[in-house]
Amino acid sequence: MRGKFITFEGIDGAGKSTHIDWVAARLRERKDIGAVVTTREPGGTPLGEDLRQILLHRKMHLETEALLMFAARREHIAEVIEPALDRGDWVISDRFTDATFAYQGGGRGLATARLEALEDWVQAGLQPDLTLLFDVPLETASARLAGARAPDKFEAESRAFFERTRAEYLRRAAQAPGRFRVIDATQSIEQIRVELEKIVSML
Ligand code: TMP
Repeated sequence: MRGKFITFEGIDGAGKSTHIDWVAARLRERKDIGAVVTTREPGGTPLGEDLRQILLHRKMHLETEALLMFAARREHIAEVIEPALDRGDWVISDRFTDATFAYQGGGRGLATARLEALEDWVQAGLQPDLTLLFDVPLETASARLAGARAPDKFEAESRAFFERTRAEYLRRAAQAPGRFRVIDATQSIEQIRVELEKIVSML
């Protein structure tokens, strides 16, 4: 049986990464499913990780940025995601295409039609079975980021950029309620785990 594909999303500082290993560990306890692969975007392959360094630290035209995100994704799907799902393994990815719609589309203003064309090409119908959107107000996100390591190109963006990014994530979640679960990430880690446990147990 083909595995399931789960993605974690949210603006920088939403705290999603804290929960990925925990969800993976919960799933690994289950006897009825295959192995659980955790991965991330941009990245997830040697080429993708090289592209990540460029994407997070070099200035570039916004269309170049979107194209490189999808180039890294093409490699990731071919090398990691599809082979794992075909083996019956489950894949958990820290970000996927919703991030491109939210950041390059919502944040930077690239036309959605452009992104949809790339999505059709690169994914050929592949979509996550479940997307967990960690949602927080901007104040919470920036407080969590403050004091962390030096900000990358995206983390250094303006408040208005993250307002647009968050709004686009929420818009997409409202449009695809069957795939998305929006998590109020202002809650404590323990409260969020209770919610995640319920969601994951229904998969
Ligand atoms: P991370 O810090 O959650 O690993 O994500 C890396 C950054 O890349 C984050 O600021 C969001 C950004 N990003 C995009 O702008 N578009 C995308 O398609 C992806 C996957 C990430």
